[in-house]
Amino acid sequence: MIKTFKYDVILDEADLCNREAEKKRLISVIKRNGRIVLYSIRRMGKTSLTSVCSKILKKQNPDTFYLYVDLNEVTSFGDVTKRFWAYFESALKEQFPLQRAKSLMGNLIGRVKVHLPGKIELSLDEIPESHHDMYLMELFKELGELSKTNPIIMTVDEFQAIAHDRESQAILRQAFQKLNLAGIVLMGSNQRLLYHMLNDKSAPFFGFGEDLELTPISIEHYLPYLEDRFSKSNLLISKEVAIFMLDQMNNIPNYINELGAWLVDTMSNTELTYHHIETAIYAAVHTKRGRYTSALYGYRPNEKKFFKAIAKKGFVESPTGKDMQELTDLSPSELLRVSRDMDDCPLISRDSQNRLFIIDPFLQKFLMLF
Ligand SMILES: Nc1ncnc2c1ncn2[C@@H]1O[C@H](COP(=O)(O)OP(=O)(O)O)[C@@H](O)[C@H]1O
Ligand SMILES: [Mg+2]
Repeated sequence: MIKTFKYDVILDEADLCNREAEKKRLISVIKRNGRIVLYSIRRMGKTSLTSVCSKILKKQNPDTFYLYVDLNEVTSFGDVTKRFWAYFESALKEQFPLQRAKSLMGNLIGRVKVHLPGKIELSLDEIPESHHDMYLMELFKELGELSKTNPIIMTVDEFQAIAHDRESQAILRQAFQKLNLAGIVLMGSNQRLLYHMLNDKSAPFFGFGEDLELTPISIEHYLPYLEDRFSKSNLLISKEVAIFMLDQMNNIPNYINELGAWLVDTMSNTELTYHHIETAIYAAVHTKRGRYTSALYGYRPNEKKFFKAIAKKGFVESPTGKDMQELTDLSPSELLRVSRDMDDCPLISRDSQNRLFIIDPFLQKFLMLF
């Protein structure tokens, strides 16, 4: 079968490059009903990796129940509760025969109704605020019941979305504690926020589980992966040029694959050079102009100046430094203010040396050009 470059999607095992050690570790933690926190910047492969592991485990034991909950952009504990209910219901429907799914959901609704005064109708859209934690706790009780007969994997994605919400953290922590017969994976793409949630002694999730960071995939693993997919257009790539390609894409698999797809679509029958890679990046940036323009709409002029300066420098040690002042025309105090406001902005991150950079390499080039 011909392999293609995939990006912006959750991958299956056949498209996952390496991650063997991470797979092994995740699977073994889940099997012993442990807890693990999987983190990396966005687009490194967290969601794909946990999805692949859960499929492997389901193959080994078809009774396994996989509950995936995405907390992306939740703004209240009510949202958190609704997410858990919605994902739970759809997971039941997907993974159990209809009758069993219905009866499990029926159990849960029955449990909740016991707590509701006479006439209140059960509706997810209008859970009274005073009942949010009851709805969540009952769901966890139902999961607890299920865990007596079925192995359970629970993954919570974008967990840092509740970093500023101690109430949600406290209730979830309590709920997780009761669910001791399940493997739990928490994922997050904002290291700073996650770090605070897990390392602040007064925070509910202090010291929760073990850590696993997704770091860049080595060239030894990526080169054959590229070669397999470039062969479709009869393209060759040397190790040196492949290293350059990965480096230009900040070593983030999503963008490496996006550039790979572009090259396969636009070129054929040649050996790729540094120049080909650079040209392809700029051509791709050109077609993405509209998208990036709208991605930047919500930011203030000074914030845009700040991004542009970071893009120009590539990596920034001090956001208030002399070169940043010159590039932005902003005072150190204004730069400090902007950089604090932008601390958790999804467009930028910090590398292992604590330097700021623009995560999306195409956006970085766009900011330099336009
Ligand atoms: N191990 C991998 N090998 C190849 N590509 C990968 C790998 N992991 C991630 N990717 C690429 O990154 C994209 C995003 O993956 P995803 O699992 O959504 O990352 P995250 O959850 O960290 O944001 C995928 O569509 C794919 O293009
Ligand atoms: Mg993800």
